[in-house]
Amino acid sequence: MKKIYSVAVDGPSGAGKSTLAKAIARELGIVYVDTGAMYRSIGLHIREKGIDPQDAAAVIAALPEIHIDMDYSDDGTQHMYLGGRDVSTEIRLPEISMYASHVSAIPQVRAFLMEMQRSIAREKSVIMDGRDIGTVVLPDADVKIFLFADVKVRALRRMKELEERGTPKSYDEVLQEMEQRDYQDSHRETAPLRPADDAIMVDTSDLDFAGSRDLLLDVIKGSVGQ
Ligand code: DC
Repeated sequence: MKKIYSVAVDGPSGAGKSTLAKAIARELGIVYVDTGAMYRSIGLHIREKGIDPQDAAAVIAALPEIHIDMDYSDDGTQHMYLGGRDVSTEIRLPEISMYASHVSAIPQVRAFLMEMQRSIAREKSVIMDGRDIGTVVLPDADVKIFLFADVKVRALRRMKELEERGTPKSYDEVLQEMEQRDYQDSHRETAPLRPADDAIMVDTSDLDFAGSRDLLLDVIKGSVGQ
């Protein structure tokens, strides 16, 4: 068994990445790193400053004033801090998703976060989820998983999640936003969402949580020899 290993999980939103990665991290006793939360924190800052997230020059000019930190509670939950303020809940607001997607298309924003992401994986075993983890951030990851599901299934899952959080939205609205974000995330020039050549493709459309978790655990244990 390797001392330190890394698992990269990429895929579109709503494929189940964060729920599954968090459960797997707990099972394997490793750290779950949610990189989307970092882009969301930048998106939140840009929104609070009243900056247009598509105005790359203005977003880049704001980067030096952005201080992002993260820590983990005992149950493995990742907390995000923006300038020392805990923004873990706020960054989940639906309007922040589009801000995160826009700012994440800017190469300087990606470079700003990449070293932070890599340094965590150098120090401890991680399961890191995002859009470009297996392709760009951790190209040498021990296991690469590309998680996907039919967009209609993903929209239904996201709709339920929003309902549970008390910020409901209609199915049509969720579906339309999801399609738009999929398009933006996979058609940008820098680090677009795509499977790494050596990624294991996992379709969760017809799998429930336990089924997906067990499948991924088998794949990971098989690869890192746990
Ligand atoms: O996973 P999420 O929905 O929290 O991510 C929010 C946005 O951040 C998503 O639309 C694309 C972007 N993102 C990215 O470009 N690269 C990552 N590694 C993670 C997220």
